[in-house]
Amino acid sequence: MTASHEQHDGTPPSGVRVAVISASVRKDRMGPTIADWVVAALGSAADVDLIDLADTLLPDDSLLYPGGGPKSAVADRIDAADAFVFVMPEYNHSYPASLKRLIDWHYAEWRLKPATIVAYGVHGGYAAIEQLRGVLAELNVVTTRRVIGLPAPWDCLNDQQRYAPDDRLCRGLAGCLDELRWWADVLADARRTRPFPT
Ligand SMILES: Cc1cc2nc3c(=O)[nH]c(=O)nc-3n(C[C@H](O)[C@H](O)[C@H](O)COP(=O)(O)O)c2cc1C
Repeated sequence: MTASHEQHDGTPPSGVRVAVISASVRKDRMGPTIADWVVAALGSAADVDLIDLADTLLPDDSLLYPGGGPKSAVADRIDAADAFVFVMPEYNHSYPASLKRLIDWHYAEWRLKPATIVAYGVHGGYAAIEQLRGVLAELNVVTTRRVIGLPAPWDCLNDQQRYAPDDRLCRGLAGCLDELRWWADVLADARRTRPFPT
């Protein structure tokens, strides 16, 4: 374990590749504003790949089969990640269909990696978070215990229209990323050294 792996300031260490997946595809969406906040919190210590689902064309669902489908345009980027942050709004007490499609279109790319979840909505999006956890478990993705729901984030924009919540939410996100880093370390090691029981 390197010295950088021993830091505990909420920032993943250098070399951890984190895919931040921004799920909303609506026009005039909050998603990119929240994703920017998450990317800023990850800082330069992580190797961040921001995947905006509005820019992500997946093949037609008629081609889907159990365990994924023909290779998508973002498969290599998901595969390269050591950890995921899902940034997602709550729609009708669940997560957006765009995110379910992304999940279903991939399989091995997700396996035995950790994820944390940043949800937002009128009340914070915790109903969507709990639904996503069950789906990720099926793919052997470990979700952090700490996740974060952002209630009415549109009320916390600063003059530059950036998301600027109170310290409590900033500390909450730092805690999620701290756990994510721990799991990323542990699972990267385990993927290399321990065969997974089939
Ligand atoms: C189809 C739809 C369903 C929604 N359902 C919920 C909901 O169940 N709970 C909630 O807190 N907010 C709900 N909202 C409000 C969204 O959280 C809010 O519009 C948010 O800005 C959506 O994120 P986006 O702008 O990044 O797409 C819903 C919005 C839409 C468009």
